[in-house]
Amino acid sequence: MRYLVTGVTGQLGAEVAAELLSRKETVFGCGRKQEAPRELADRPGFSYRSFDLADEVSLKTAFVAALPDAVIHCASWTAVDEAEKEENREKVTQINVDSTRLLAGLCAAHGAKLLYISTDYVFGGEGENPYDADCEDFNPLNVYGATKLEGEKAVRETLSEHFVVRVSWTFGKYGDNFVEKMLRVARGRQEVSVVDDQFGTPTYTSDAARTICDIAESSEYGTYNLAASGGFVSRAGFAREIFRAAGIDVKVMPVRTADFKSLAKRPLNSRFDCSKLGRHGFSALPDWKDGLARYLAERKEP
Ligand SMILES: NC(=O)c1ccc[n+]([C@@H]2O[C@H](COP(=O)([O-])OP(=O)(O)OC[C@H]3O[C@@H](n4cnc5c(N)ncnc54)[C@H](OP(=O)(O)O)[C@@H]3O)[C@@H](O)[C@H]2O)c1
Repeated sequence: MRYLVTGVTGQLGAEVAAELLSRKETVFGCGRKQEAPRELADRPGFSYRSFDLADEVSLKTAFVAALPDAVIHCASWTAVDEAEKEENREKVTQINVDSTRLLAGLCAAHGAKLLYISTDYVFGGEGENPYDADCEDFNPLNVYGATKLEGEKAVRETLSEHFVVRVSWTFGKYGDNFVEKMLRVARGRQEVSVVDDQFGTPTYTSDAARTICDIAESSEYGTYNLAASGGFVSRAGFAREIFRAAGIDVKVMPVRTADFKSLAKRPLNSRFDCSKLGRHGFSALPDWKDGLARYLAERKEP
């Protein structure tokens, strides 16, 4: 199959492209940067085009150049705090909502499948129950979450057969992430403060990419929540496991989200119920601690 993967210069898109290439698929990758990541650039079956989701013409041109059988739309405005700034709001909407609607329309017109990557931030994070994939109690707390939700709606309105796959708390080899941040802040310190009232499941992008490609290959249309196995953990608990697994002796001091100043509000409950995956024939992802151990072994030292 011919795939168009947006956001191949980002953490998840690069991993999705790599997974498709290992399955011998043809991949047209797009990102805003002028060049593809080095790890993808020379692989057989891969070609790259720089585009800007805020520019309709460049998105249409990329689509027509690829003429894909399927699109995996990973690219997004992901800077959660920056999205809150008044001067950025129009751009965030263009990138997360308008371009998604345009892409869905192109897929509808050309008979291509679309898999849209979304986020736990479409929910408000009330309570402690895991969110079911088909739960519609949306209540985004910030502009990023609200625009990702609008992106989901644009996909559903435009294409009756579609995939929406929500991921959360991802970390991977192709970008900055929570694990790298913890390893950075721990340098030369004896203790670090980390919030202990946000709960979720850390997920290695390499594991997420495998299931995303399985879903895209299938005809099991609908919305899925995707996270690793192994249960839920707080950010502070995740940090403790990072330091333990990396052999770093640093104490994690628990703090509350409310004590951290940030422009955007963040949900406290990012727990996903991923059981829908199994009901549609997809395998559960490996345990998050196992994913973390593999990531630490595979990552490049900065
Ligand atoms: N990371 C997480 O924990 C997390 C959690 C929930 C959901 N998600 C979702 O997962 C998906 C992938 O996120 P990620 O972690 O891979 O993020 P990322 O590393 O920040 O990558 C974002 C990608 O989007 C591209 N992009 C941004 N603005 C663009 C524009 N105007 N035109 C073209 N490309 C543009 C970036 O291109 P350049 O790098 O070339 O600028 C990059 O390839 C997103 O849909 C995000 O909402 C992520």
